Amino acid sequence: RGIIERPGSGSRPLVIAHRGYSAVVPENSLAAVDAARALGVDFIEVDTSTSADGVPVILHDPDLDRTTNRKGPVANLTAEELSFVDAGSWMGPGFHGVRIPTLAAVMRDIQHRGGELLLELKGEWSSGAVARISELVVETGIADRMIVQSFNLETLETCRDLLPMVARFLLRMVPKPEDIEIARDLGAVAINPSYKGFSMRKSVVTEIRDNDLGVFVWTANEMNEWRELLNAEVDGIITNHPGRLQGFLAGR
Ligand code: G3P
Ligand code: CA
Repeated sequence: RGIIERPGSGSRPLVIAHRGYSAVVPENSLAAVDAARALGVDFIEVDTSTSADGVPVILHDPDLDRTTNRKGPVANLTAEELSFVDAGSWMGPGFHGVRIPTLAAVMRDIQHRGGELLLELKGEWSSGAVARISELVVETGIADRMIVQSFNLETLETCRDLLPMVARFLLRMVPKPEDIEIARDLGAVAINPSYKGFSMRKSVVTEIRDNDLGVFVWTANEMNEWRELLNAEVDGIITNHPGRLQGFLAGR
């Protein structure tokens, strides 16, 4: 569990910026990564999937509709076509021209400017696609400053086999006792439930922690939720409001 422990953090949960500092700048953009870094969060979470020509790009949804000026599946456009898409205007005219970054751009940004990356792999990733991430890890040398997470068990299995130098988290909506064994097989160091799943299955969360696995809860944006998660001594809180969460934790 070394990578998820911070010297001097005591029982304070780690603060993880969800899709970057997504409450204030367009999610999953380099600006959102930078704003989260400026806060000094413990990890910056972003989502990745691949373009039509197999380039890993940073976007949450499988379609472009919600957060860009284009429509249709991300997987229908090449990386070059995606590089012209406006992924900022949906959040306000001041963000016009914000782009969808490639994973390479985000990892190089982390390499040169600092920060720790929690990378969510959306959907199923082929061996070839994970191998591309592996190349980027070697190129940037940030293996010890990043973690991959996924809901997809096959993807995590491929990461275990082809990306062994990067720690893994298993994502679950609602955690179940059998997830502990699944996480062990995948070599995952944490099982991360939704806040709702955490609330529904507190005894499972205790069992996960008793088995020396971490628990990082997503996506908790309210103070009453943070209070509950702090009392439960979870390892980390994934939030759109990392600045407010830091303020809340500092006041405890
Ligand atoms: O970090 C976990 C969380 O991001 C998973 O949900 O839909 O926001 O990617 P989603
Ligand atoms: Ca995510």
